[in-house]
Amino acid sequence: MDTPARKHVLLAVCGGIAAYKSAELVRLLRRQDTDVRVVMTQSAQEFASPLTFQALSGNPVHTELLDVDEENAMGHINLARWADVVIIAPATANTLAKCAHGLADDLVTTLFLAATCPVYIAPAMNQAMWNKAVTQENIRKLERYGVSFIGPDSGDQACGETGLGRMAEPADICRLLLTEPKDLVLNGLKVLISAGPTREYIDPVRYITNRSSGKMGFALARAALRAGAQVSLVSGPVNLPSPDSLDIVQVETAAQMYDAVLARAGNADIYIAAAAVADYSPIAMEKDKIKKQAEQTNLVLNKNKDILADVARLNNAPFTVGFAAETKDLDANAQEKLCKKNLDMIAANWVGQGQGGFDSEQNALEVFWDNGRTSLAMMDKNQLAEQLINLIAKRFNEKNRI
Ligand code: PMT
Repeated sequence: MDTPARKHVLLAVCGGIAAYKSAELVRLLRRQDTDVRVVMTQSAQEFASPLTFQALSGNPVHTELLDVDEENAMGHINLARWADVVIIAPATANTLAKCAHGLADDLVTTLFLAATCPVYIAPAMNQAMWNKAVTQENIRKLERYGVSFIGPDSGDQACGETGLGRMAEPADICRLLLTEPKDLVLNGLKVLISAGPTREYIDPVRYITNRSSGKMGFALARAALRAGAQVSLVSGPVNLPSPDSLDIVQVETAAQMYDAVLARAGNADIYIAAAAVADYSPIAMEKDKIKKQAEQTNLVLNKNKDILADVARLNNAPFTVGFAAETKDLDANAQEKLCKKNLDMIAANWVGQGQGGFDSEQNALEVFWDNGRTSLAMMDKNQLAEQLINLIAKRFNEKNRI
């Protein structure tokens, strides 16, 4: 990394087990030639010692709102003025809530209010606390106020549970903090993403669907947002929280997804088809619930229109990235889809039982394009999405910008 434009980094550490990761963050930031000042809440000091942060940052650590050692006892205002960027890491649910509501009863929340530079938050908390509606509401509020979120990641948590809530890795936080918006890989681009399953109705109470949870598509949407894109997400029925800065369109059936995607594709620079769209739908939905009568019955299905192929066929087609979900011959099937549907890129994943893919926190991808391929190893879907977005940006630039 060249000498960063953001030289003065103010790190606010809250009380959580992830505080130890923030010590590593200070070390990484110092290696990038930045000056780091650290402030800690009372409870952060239960998890990590101010001395650790003082030694790593080379600066005194601030813990009190009114600092008698400061010339005018206005340490928080001076610190806020000094900072080029503020990062709260780890941010607890409590500090998030206080920031969202403008409370300023300690040094960290007062600094948040006093800061005029960009503010980033890297939350860390138990997955149930993260998913709680009130926490999600606070996050949406803060996003509306211009705060940028980094993470959280999903995976095993210190409390023994698994899910979203782990603090993002220090290396990822460091890179994002020191990247100027103009240097983000998708800066200014419009990205359209499809996610989740579709439901094809047999009668008013029964439908055909699949195991897609939407996690891969939502992770891609978050990664594209972080990369500076303006993101539209067309999603089938899922049970996932979404950031406010997304233009999200909720659909149910493959036909509705077709209409929603095609209405937006002409205006997009990049289309990523992560949705698991039903290939077939019942020829017509019965008006009433089908009665149990015969020993055997037949369901007649019609082939659905292929959204991805039709987007790639548009005169002003965006850079088009398909997914391939396979249980055998992954490479050959993916390459055939790449070619037949005339795509710019395809990301193939195994979707057999216990193989990542559907409804799992992790996934692995084999990515193919014209005369090229690469493997992205099994990892958390958030990290995987970030790597795929970087790859897409690189190929997009090679095709369009350079
Ligand atoms: O949602 P998760 O639980 O996180 O799981 C992620 C995932 C496994 C669903 C995702 O990684 C994935 O593989 N998505 C594509 C699933 C799929 O439908 O694959 P396919 O090989 O059947 O389809 C190939 C491509 O054509 C896909 O990009 C699909 O979106 C697209 N398609 C398919 C049918 C159709 N009628 N229209 C389409 O656009």
